[in-house]
Amino acid sequence: MARAAGCPFDPPPALRAKQEEGPLAKVRLWDGSTPWLVTRYAEQRALLADPRVSADITQPGYPSPAPINGSSTISFILMDDPEHARLRRMVTAPFTIKRVRAMRPAVEKIVDELIDDMLAGPKPVDLVEAFALPMPSLVICELLGVPYSDHDFFQDNSKTIIKRDATPEQRATAFGHLAGYLDNLLGEKLTDPGDDMLSQLTERIKNGELSRQEAAQMGVLLLIAGHETTANMIALGTLALLEHPDQLALLRDTDDEKLVTSAVEELLRYLHITHNGRRRVALEDIEIAGQLIRAGDGMIMANDIGNRDPDVFPDPDRLDIQRDARHHVAFGFGVHQCLGQPLARLELQIVYSTLYRRIPTLRLATDLEKIPFKHDGSVYGVYELPVTW
Ligand code: HEM
Repeated sequence: MARAAGCPFDPPPALRAKQEEGPLAKVRLWDGSTPWLVTRYAEQRALLADPRVSADITQPGYPSPAPINGSSTISFILMDDPEHARLRRMVTAPFTIKRVRAMRPAVEKIVDELIDDMLAGPKPVDLVEAFALPMPSLVICELLGVPYSDHDFFQDNSKTIIKRDATPEQRATAFGHLAGYLDNLLGEKLTDPGDDMLSQLTERIKNGELSRQEAAQMGVLLLIAGHETTANMIALGTLALLEHPDQLALLRDTDDEKLVTSAVEELLRYLHITHNGRRRVALEDIEIAGQLIRAGDGMIMANDIGNRDPDVFPDPDRLDIQRDARHHVAFGFGVHQCLGQPLARLELQIVYSTLYRRIPTLRLATDLEKIPFKHDGSVYGVYELPVTW
């Protein structure tokens, strides 16, 4: 949901008003359809965990945020079990907590080198371009086996895919470019495998578990999900901290890993960057909160306002890095809960505990009003963040 003018970190007042009225409301979408808007945390979690609720974008009644083009379906995030589980299982291993923990030194090195470059270069600098975007892109490239030197190509196409106002044709073209690119890489790795996720997928192609097209689509999903989201959390998170200097000081001056961990959870809750909501459709009639959701009804779980539900998070509009926010829904809930969350957490913990300590005088190099916010994308953030020190 687009943020209104006012506090750039708060959900729009109209969404807050809907939440106060009740947990479910009907809303009208761009195509005239009227899905349910689910505004409260408890109902959102109940529905996201309900097997009668589908994430399949091809189901009639699916509340698409924009016109869709069938060929641009991005792998298992838009599928139901058992197909969803079959594909997701093939890529879970590198994202387990133990495997991700082992990546800490590599991620720390990437963060430190990018900060070294920033400090050695001219200022002011755009934090998005110099740090927030390259950081998770370098990590996901390494993990997948995608050459980082192609970053302009894949970042541009990813941007088009998640842009709300891209036409179906533009989105399908961008998806085609990325799927073709991933297919080429898979082709190379079929004959010359390395120690990366795409090479592991080629093993599954060889033994008939996975088609090459499925593997390419999974590659697209992992590449996009792996860099866009974390990049926005880094830049928007930094802006939120700069606007809350007391919280920034607490984080910068602490040696307590627990405070860093809770700061990451709180910023995930407070900023909730995937602000288009979790889109779903009912496969059967479902009764919830005194309402009947009929089979075929669309649903939008507005998790951004769910993360500000006062029954769950007292004083929800206050950024408080000392609160326990672990139960937020910024990574979704249920079977589609974010696969990459251990990696995202590691990246954000390292960034938030390094960047402000190494550049203690970091500050905005422009006025808040001049910062371009991403009101037009399905992931919220800033296009640019000019900073200096
Ligand atoms: C701060 C960063 C991130 C945020 C806020 C985030 C958020 C989310 C959310 C809300 C979902 C659920 C979608 C739904 O239910 O419809 C999701 C799913 C997913 N995320 Fe993330 N994500 C982040 C980072 C990552 C990273 C680093 C990866 C690594 C590749 C990743 C990979 C995925 C995948 C593959 C799914 C689909 C899971 C499924 O459908 O089973 N995400 N993410």
